[in-house]
Amino acid sequence: MSIAIETATDLAYQQCLNPACRNTLGVDQAVFACPRCGDLLDVVYDWDRLPVPDRLSDFEAKWSRRLDPLCFSGVWRFRELLPFAPPDQIVTIGEGQTLLQPADKVAQYVGMNPGNLLLQYEGMNPSGSFKDNGMTAAFTHARMVNARRVACASTGNTSAALAVFCSATSFGFKAIIFVGSGKIAYGKLSQALDHGALTIQIAGDFDDAMERVKQVADRLGIYLMNSVNPFRLEGQKAIMFRVLEALNWEPPDWIVVPGGNLGNSSAFGKAFIELKHLGLIDRVPRLAVINAFGARTLSELVGTHGLSWLDGTPDENVTNAYYHLLDASKAKASTIASAIEINRPVNLKKCLRALDFCDGVVRQVSDQEIMDAKARVGAGGLGCEPASAASVAGARKLREEGVIAPSDRVVCILTGHQLKDPTATVAYHSADQDQFEKVLGSRGVKRAGFANRPVVVANDLDDIIRMIALYADAPAGG
Ligand code: F0G
Repeated sequence: MSIAIETATDLAYQQCLNPACRNTLGVDQAVFACPRCGDLLDVVYDWDRLPVPDRLSDFEAKWSRRLDPLCFSGVWRFRELLPFAPPDQIVTIGEGQTLLQPADKVAQYVGMNPGNLLLQYEGMNPSGSFKDNGMTAAFTHARMVNARRVACASTGNTSAALAVFCSATSFGFKAIIFVGSGKIAYGKLSQALDHGALTIQIAGDFDDAMERVKQVADRLGIYLMNSVNPFRLEGQKAIMFRVLEALNWEPPDWIVVPGGNLGNSSAFGKAFIELKHLGLIDRVPRLAVINAFGARTLSELVGTHGLSWLDGTPDENVTNAYYHLLDASKAKASTIASAIEINRPVNLKKCLRALDFCDGVVRQVSDQEIMDAKARVGAGGLGCEPASAASVAGARKLREEGVIAPSDRVVCILTGHQLKDPTATVAYHSADQDQFEKVLGSRGVKRAGFANRPVVVANDLDDIIRMIALYADAPAGG
């Protein structure tokens, strides 16, 4: 069948994730939790009655029509795979022009064969992170339900993307963002401010801000843009469609992704569930979700406490007991990878579904491992922010454990651009240990062997020439 452009909103609906409830709602509702039982909602499609392509390669024809914004978008050119919106309601800013790049220097660091480690560089999005994939879908839904005030809590990238979408479009959207004070990297805060969002810094961290934004959205009827919004995850599925496209529609062996609020991992799992159901892939990649050590709820719950999907009925006592422990010990998430500094991931349950379907694994990596991996990614050509490098650090760990083989084909998702968090990068490379700790707190991260220190030299031609002779031929990163 050829790909039809039309979509039909009656063929898509929202459904509660809880198998004992399975409440359904139309896509014209904006509620963000099941009104009956409070569980997460999914966007579900009546695939039998929808036009879907016979082969994923049919999507390639869209590129020849790229003057059409819906074919240009790296999300909406796959719109038959997220068919909840009438095309004339779609809000796009040209998101998703991203790259899957083989990275042999990074492959060497991770312990992979040349050509077998690929980096999906989502920093190329208009707001500099993968969030734009989700925002285009959520803004489309917001437009469908006539929402104007849109809000999120954020560790920085969601708020940056939200601010960009509000300012770059002309549908009257007003951005309200909640951030934990001191908890957001400068690049991201600067975006929120520059793009004109009402920026509310609350005394607390992301988990506190998340709790508050839900209350405020509920009380004031504001549209919620966090990844509890199931429409956002529909857009984020497209990251996987583009990975497959770049691999000539051949699924890789592994997708490795940092885990924070667990929206990406949940969306990736849903993408593969649907592609398999539709017969568009015959093999599903394994999924590795990587927590930072200082924000390791998923890793603890799955790895230590054995939490699993169980057909939609994970043992809530396990989760509640863990959160109770966190509260009792007043434990707060703490990692240099501020984007994933989250202890209560809202999409936990959907992530368990993804892990179940994709034979997934979860690991935690230290801040030192994250920063070293980030430096190797940078030296390999694509700059990323600390949280993104958790994927590479995680792949390295799984290689060392022998879970990933050197001959496997591994895709690490680089979720955000290097310039999002210049403070962490500059401190890692240049500061002495005291200064480093002053800037970033004592997190046990040392400059390590990959630091590329700036060289201080007098403003004197002979000194400068001597210095170049001394350093220019030294091994990079030495
Ligand atoms: N990487 C980056 C750069 C992020 O900004 C985030 C999340 C993640 C990874 C984790 O992704 O939540 O889908 O598991 N940032 C959110 C924010 C929480 O507010 O910007 P996830």
